[in-house]
Amino acid sequence: MKYKKNNQIIILGIESSCDDTSAALIQDGVILSNVVASQKVHEEYGGVVPELASRAHQQNIIPVVDLAIKKAGISKKEISAVAFTRGPGLLGSLLVGSSFAKGFSLASGIPLIEVNHLQGHVLALFIKEKESKHHAPQFPFLCLLVSGGNSQIILVRNYLDMEVIGQTIDDAAGEAFDKCAKIMGLPYPGGPHIDKLAKEGDPMKFSFSKPRIPALNYSFSGLKTNFLYFLRDNLKENENFIADNLADLCASLQYTIIEILLNKLKKAAKQTGISEITIAGGVSANSGLRDTLTINAQRHHWNLFIPKIEYTMDNAAMIAITGYYKFLNKEFTGQNVVPFARTQL
Ligand code: KG4
Repeated sequence: MKYKKNNQIIILGIESSCDDTSAALIQDGVILSNVVASQKVHEEYGGVVPELASRAHQQNIIPVVDLAIKKAGISKKEISAVAFTRGPGLLGSLLVGSSFAKGFSLASGIPLIEVNHLQGHVLALFIKEKESKHHAPQFPFLCLLVSGGNSQIILVRNYLDMEVIGQTIDDAAGEAFDKCAKIMGLPYPGGPHIDKLAKEGDPMKFSFSKPRIPALNYSFSGLKTNFLYFLRDNLKENENFIADNLADLCASLQYTIIEILLNKLKKAAKQTGISEITIAGGVSANSGLRDTLTINAQRHHWNLFIPKIEYTMDNAAMIAITGYYKFLNKEFTGQNVVPFARTQL
């Protein structure tokens, strides 16, 4: 096992689960570099095209890793282990990252570590920055994980001990943002566009349906259908209805999504008696969600932790930090490991 530079542990993280090729280096939990190459090729299709994503990963992976190592100011020889996203995600995309990591591990004679993408999103909260004081949640805490593919409430007992206590039974919150944005003719991914437009709109102008789902689970497919029919009916009366009301539509839709997310989070906090609350995943970049959570944290005396925006989106820093904790726990994997497409936590 390699412990270089005064026994320091340096982990190379590789993320390729969807449409971002990313590589990062973390030394003893402190970020050295985090390079993300986003794939613009999908924009004209209004969503990620899996075959195009795998091809772009294949083109990007070597330059991205190379740049991450250069930016970290280390040499390849100093890397202690390579961690990669095993799943969930697009299988073709995952195969590129996992095959690269396997090759890197073999060629360098260092351990290979498989990482669950969702666990990575949660542990992004523990990425330390050089020369800045780090605030991390205390165990146990609740994490609202909201991304393009997942909406979950996770009970986190320790770095590597997590339990999903609530999750979506159909679409994810990010999908609700993206699909409704597409219906309004906004570019993909729609979440950030809705966020921006919502700032100028009235969240109370229109009201949309909220699902009644038991326990701590979510559902977003009904909201999408409700939104679609609402627009279809109004467009019959006014063909410019979307353009005339764009900001109000975005604000009202965003308000509804946040309300749905928050109601179950409040319920989870009450049920578990846990007041350490965190958010993670791409949708946690949403300014409305961040503001609403901050207000609720004051109201309910929560200790709220919100990750830096750059660590909310898909990135390899979160894979490297998870790899770091697995390294400390000696959780390594063999060359026969295969990626998985569906959620497992
Ligand atoms: O975590 P992520 O980068 O990828 C997945 O693992 O899914 O999340 C991507 C999702 C997309 O649905 C995107 O629209 C959404 O995060 N998103 C946002 C914002 N920024 C990204 N949704 C709402 N508001 C935002 N500011």
